[in-house]
Amino acid sequence: MNILGIESSCDETAAAVYTDDGLQSNIIASQAVHEQYGGVVPELASRAHHKTIWRTVQQAIDEAGITLSDVDAVAVTQGPGLMGSLLVGLCFAKGVCLSRDIPLLGVNHMDAHIYANFIDDTPNYPFVSLTVSGGHTQLVHVKDTFDHQLLGQTRDDAAGEAFDKIGKLLGLPYPAGPEVDKRSQHGDSRFHDFPQAMLDNNFEFSFSGLKTAVKYFLEDQEDRQQFLDDHLNDICASVSRAITDVLVKKLRNAVEHTKVESIVLAGGVSANSMLRSKAEELAAEQGVELYIPKLAYCTDNAAMIAITGHIMAEQGMYADMNLQPFASLSR
Ligand code: KG4
Ligand code: ZN
Repeated sequence: MNILGIESSCDETAAAVYTDDGLQSNIIASQAVHEQYGGVVPELASRAHHKTIWRTVQQAIDEAGITLSDVDAVAVTQGPGLMGSLLVGLCFAKGVCLSRDIPLLGVNHMDAHIYANFIDDTPNYPFVSLTVSGGHTQLVHVKDTFDHQLLGQTRDDAAGEAFDKIGKLLGLPYPAGPEVDKRSQHGDSRFHDFPQAMLDNNFEFSFSGLKTAVKYFLEDQEDRQQFLDDHLNDICASVSRAITDVLVKKLRNAVEHTKVESIVLAGGVSANSMLRSKAEELAAEQGVELYIPKLAYCTDNAAMIAITGHIMAEQGMYADMNLQPFASLSR
């Protein structure tokens, strides 16, 4: 079974091929056009997807050493994401399916982040996934293949959104998450105690208060620029501690509640070094297995769409040509 995976939910145009022998190619075309605006501009994202999607798909197929006629099904991100961006990928995928008379698979982007853990590994069911991206922060009890129970999620900003918005306050370019991470490794995480919200015993998150706290903290400094020049790394490290402490505390709650023996990290923020090392400590303390995708499969990519499509094909979870995109999980 040769699955062509296509991802276009946000600002990465990506294509990959996953076969019964595993991942064969994984191509990502990132959109630099958004940098100057400090965030993703939806209309520009759609146009950039439109421009690059065919080239990206062609490259993925070439690198896999196959041709389009060897593709057995196309898996495409159905949502959540930017409607215009999703439409480009979905319409392209439908076009390939119609022209080659092959089936379509509609992939939930958040599920795909979780199944990215199966590219290089085989996590044992049941497990808990801490799925942390730019748009979502969720704890999911994955009881079996596509048997998912949402334990809790963020009430406001996602963890990646918190990294990005706070990074912007600190003068870092978008997306700030990776840069905050890098700087944190050279800073003192105890420099300042930023607030950690909703630490009571549940599975929900809230990060918007942290962003406001950082804003006021910076405004309180007499010479803000001098303060940032002196302490940017320390502030990054303190912010990273505030975010990752909460994530890992809630993950611990979920492990204790579900009594699972495995945990997985998923989504762009699972690339974060502080989160990865705290999750390792948690796994050792709780005596559970920990799975984290390799860095290339943490942030948005099509390998995760292609492998999820492969799993869906095995389960017969095909879509029809009326498949519609959805922007949010609460569709
Ligand atoms: O999963 P993803 O690529 O896209 C969405 O589905 O949203 O996640 C992107 C998010 C961004 O907010 C980005 O800043 C964050 O993941 N991110 C990180 C790191 N790498 C990416 N945040 C903290 N540390 C990182 N190393
Ligand atoms: Zn994502």
